[in-house]
Amino acid sequence: MEERKVLFSAIQPSGILTIGNYLGALRNFKKLQNDYDSIFSVADLHTLTVRQDPAVLRKNVYELAALYLACGIDPQKSILFVQSHVSAHAELTWILNTICYPGELSRMTQFKEKSKSHEDNINMGLMDYPVLMASDILLYQTDIVPVGADQKQHLELSRDIAIRFNNRFGDVFKVPDGYIPKTAARVMSLQEPSKKMSKSDANFNAFISMDDDPDTVRRKFKRAVTDSDNRIIFSEDKPGISNLLTIYSAVCDKTIEDAEKEFENCGYGDFKSKVGDAVAAVIEPIRQEKNKLLASKDYLDYVLKDGAYKAEKIAYKTLFKVYKKVGLVPRKR
Ligand code: TRP
Repeated sequence: MEERKVLFSAIQPSGILTIGNYLGALRNFKKLQNDYDSIFSVADLHTLTVRQDPAVLRKNVYELAALYLACGIDPQKSILFVQSHVSAHAELTWILNTICYPGELSRMTQFKEKSKSHEDNINMGLMDYPVLMASDILLYQTDIVPVGADQKQHLELSRDIAIRFNNRFGDVFKVPDGYIPKTAARVMSLQEPSKKMSKSDANFNAFISMDDDPDTVRRKFKRAVTDSDNRIIFSEDKPGISNLLTIYSAVCDKTIEDAEKEFENCGYGDFKSKVGDAVAAVIEPIRQEKNKLLASKDYLDYVLKDGAYKAEKIAYKTLFKVYKKVGLVPRKR
């Protein structure tokens, strides 16, 4: 039998996830887990690189685990675990740090951006973020990593680190490939459609959270910024309408052309309420399922415990190879 390829992905438990996260990542995981040996992680150690309220972080870890499951991650098919439950991630980061350089890490776009937005807390972890991410990926001999455009640079660095280590110490790591799903939609702000939709937008009407109830979803779409002509077509000079068409076609699994046709003789008001309905219809069952799961903490704990156990077995195999290659003496059992 042909061996299946390994897929690894992680999301930070940093609070709200938007419909953009869903359409760009979460939605695809359900299908991907049938084709790959899939490993999904709650990247809690990454989240510590910006200041967190400990109680809120604890809650967000469960929220994200429940959301993964509600979006169709099946713990019988995939491994779902919390990053900090597998200490190999922190351990490999230490080793990889010894072959990474401040120059290459301080050049990362995300580091530069976060240094600006968190001026009062430019900590070592923030700079080391991509090395921890490389550890996540390389521990599992990952073949493919589904990533959004904003993480491409980090994935590129992971590949460089793998190649560098292999050249210096001998082959240990598989060099991973990025994977940008064909169906990944780029979702823009509902209020300023030239900007990417962001959960940290101060204007709540600019994004759709996976926690929004149907009324909120519909209201936000009603308030979405459009333009003054009245044609529902996808076009560069109509960023608002184009964004709504993108969202609609993504949630309904239709092409943009089909969506354009469907709304050919439709007014903006009607169009917006149809988009709102369609999005609410996708989000609401997930939200309900997530809340149901959150009410059964024992089940979530069980899934995460089992996931950590399975992840650990794979991760430690790689970590011990690394320790051996660099010359650390194995602990006798
Ligand atoms: N940095 C990723 C993000 O913010 C999350 C992440 C952490 C990740 N470790 C990863 C993604 C490993 C892919 C692979 O989106």
